[in-house]
Amino acid sequence: MTQAAAKTPITIATVGIIGAGQMGAGIAHVCALGGFDVMLSDINPEQLKKCVSNIEKNIGRQVNKGFVSDADRNAALARIKTTTSSADLGDRDLVIEAATEHEETKKKIFRDLCPSMKKDAILCSNTSSISITRLAAVTDRPERFMGLHFMNPVPVMKLVELIRGIATEEHTFAAVRVFAEKLGKHTVSSEDFPAFIVNRVLIPMINEAIYTLYEGVGTVKAIDSAMKLGANHPMGPLELADFIGLDTCLAIMSVLHDGLADTKYRPCPLLAKYVEAGWLGRKTGKGFYDYSGPEPVPTR
Ligand code: CAA
Repeated sequence: MTQAAAKTPITIATVGIIGAGQMGAGIAHVCALGGFDVMLSDINPEQLKKCVSNIEKNIGRQVNKGFVSDADRNAALARIKTTTSSADLGDRDLVIEAATEHEETKKKIFRDLCPSMKKDAILCSNTSSISITRLAAVTDRPERFMGLHFMNPVPVMKLVELIRGIATEEHTFAAVRVFAEKLGKHTVSSEDFPAFIVNRVLIPMINEAIYTLYEGVGTVKAIDSAMKLGANHPMGPLELADFIGLDTCLAIMSVLHDGLADTKYRPCPLLAKYVEAGWLGRKTGKGFYDYSGPEPVPTR
């Protein structure tokens, strides 16, 4: 690339999002409200339908609070299109991968996607823990690849983490930072180490709360009340684990354990057991709480 080309600012107007789970929904929501044209992609058409209906519900909450007008809601929803084929992301300026927190799944998505993408398009991963450099290495554009990590619930949380891989070019980083700021987010830059900043601190805290339960130090309710009322956390750590997804919490602890080779990051066996049982938290209706009734009920 010439120096002049390297200095040309990159304009992002169209966005592709891969993965219609809770993070993909939140990212599509804030992008559409921010005025970006959104193509949301998932292999499962039912999941796409569920995702769009969740976005409608969540924008509705903001309309009810008076933060978003009816006209802006309608315009935002009209900006979201869906597809089951990642080839439909070929005309996007930026594609954000928000699939499950599993390295091989993400790598396969990137390998399949790259041939249909515009040459100058930027590719980001919303990974919450996996090496950006390793993910970038399977693409045809490591210089146009970086981490863009949103927090859940995306429409409410102010932060996004920006993570450079070893090859990320400065003008890619600058374009993605401007994009995140246009979404109204505050950005922090993190080096490419396992779980970056937020999850390096947060997920071991949640894992410790699960050990506290496992060792019988306190009940689910006692642990959550203690941290809400004693440390002013908006959610207790077990409630938050259910909210994030226990599979995601376990995946992040495993990345920390493998990547930093320190036993202090060993995942709690009780967390592994819940995941083995398919008790993944709110998304499956059961985790440290059972969500089938009107109020969440602790499961132990
Ligand atoms: N979309 C839009 N608005 C939403 C929303 C959504 N999905 N979820 C909540 N809201 C809004 C509500 O409308 C409400 O608005 P007002 O404050 O204007 O009234 C506000 O958020 C608070 O919501 P609720 O009153 O329903 O509930 P709450 O007071 O219990 O707050 C919460 C909910 C904002 C989620 C709060 O409990 C909280 O901040 N929890 C901690 C969340 C957290 O730590 N997230 C980070 C997780 S880690 C992560 O994401 C990284 C990772 O990779 C794992």
